[in-house]
Amino acid sequence: MSEFQLSTMQKEYWNNANKRWNVKSGATGSGKTYLDFFLIPKRIRACTGQGLIVLLGNTKSTLSRNVLDPLRGIYGDRAISNINNENVAYLFGKKTYCLGADKVNQVTKIQGATIEYCYGDEVTTWHREVFEMLKSRMRCENSIFDGTCNPDGPKHWFKEFLDSDADIYQQKYTIEDNPFLPAKFVEELKKEYAGTVYYDRFIKGNWTRAEGLLFPQFANNPKRWDISYEDVLELPVRNVFIGLDIGGTKSHSTFVATGIVGNYQRQIRLAEKMVKHSKGTVDPDRLYEAYNEFQQELRVLYPAFPVTHCFVDNEAQVIENGLRSYSQQKGYGAVVADCKKVEFTNRTLSYNYLFNTDKFMIVSSMCPNIVESLSTMVYADEKEDKLLDDYTTDVDTYDADFYSWSRYIDYFYMKARYNGR
Ligand SMILES: Nc1ncnc2c1ncn2[C@@H]1O[C@H](COP(=O)(O)OP(=O)(O)O)[C@@H](O)[C@H]1O
Ligand SMILES: [Mg+2]
Repeated sequence: MSEFQLSTMQKEYWNNANKRWNVKSGATGSGKTYLDFFLIPKRIRACTGQGLIVLLGNTKSTLSRNVLDPLRGIYGDRAISNINNENVAYLFGKKTYCLGADKVNQVTKIQGATIEYCYGDEVTTWHREVFEMLKSRMRCENSIFDGTCNPDGPKHWFKEFLDSDADIYQQKYTIEDNPFLPAKFVEELKKEYAGTVYYDRFIKGNWTRAEGLLFPQFANNPKRWDISYEDVLELPVRNVFIGLDIGGTKSHSTFVATGIVGNYQRQIRLAEKMVKHSKGTVDPDRLYEAYNEFQQELRVLYPAFPVTHCFVDNEAQVIENGLRSYSQQKGYGAVVADCKKVEFTNRTLSYNYLFNTDKFMIVSSMCPNIVESLSTMVYADEKEDKLLDDYTTDVDTYDADFYSWSRYIDYFYMKARYNGR
């Protein structure tokens, strides 16, 4: 076994992080969390019982995975208990509240209490009010906070806090600050984020604004992912998934058909269809008819590829149920099911990953709207990362496109991992 070593940045933090607020921000995999497995025991031991000990993460399960599980791996399950129903774990014999911070209501447990030590994982993903609450609760003379985060936009509330005159010790990490990473892993990580704002944030560790196109690499050269109709017919496509976005306030609904190659190696956009409704209404019968037409078109275009699923916008349950009966009556084998909703950043990152690793292909000649839609998705001009959805771009096609493979996102979006983390 190799001896215990720390990076230069980690040593600096160990020696100097003794302000009320101590924060490591920066690149992913840069060694921000590792040190905390040794720091947290020290902090907890120093607590005198004047206030609560609290660990906060994005959700309770990410907190477990990122912090408690590794701690247990080092110190054993007698030193680090599981989290019980009251959101309490015992760490080194001390009662510790372990809470998700992505929603305000989850922290009501500790509202009004005084906090002596707080550890914060993935702080930029918290609900802002949770942090505001925390600020007002860190009121022991010796209250101390250690936190880590990946950077977000420059106007993010946590960045504004870091720039304030609060009592803060902070460090900014880049990927190069972790000398323990294998070069191959760093290379894969860089590939994952290439050509997007996430490269700046997650590799260089900068608080960079997300602006302009979501997928500039695709917009600049969609041909790179193009495949001809003839070539697709040669591929072992074992499933076709239809995604259906149902026009709510808008006047059309959109279908996208995605072929899955082999054992989820790649995905191919095969065909698309748009249905116009009269203004402000969705006519279910017209929609079912369009579904029928689309199924027929797919049968003609790709006779060897079985349509196994249709994933539907899950805000339209009545229409989805109607479509399920309709599809069965017509004798189609496709399972009609809910799509999976995924929050904006993860969805953006997953597409980015598909493009950068060439797991995405498209029969552009059959899918002009999809090409157009993916090429034109832009960030809204707001403090938090958000998709611009003001009717100037075709967000519906982008939604249908995502619904077609959303339930299988984990099969395709395999983030670069090291040491299984
Ligand atoms: N001092 C160290 N010695 C050995 N491995 C380390 C050290 N610091 C970090 N690592 C390893 O590098 C990887 C990334 O570190 P981590 O702290 O999880 O990064 P971050 O929190 O910045 O994403 C982990 O697998 C971790 O075990
Ligand atoms: Mg970390």
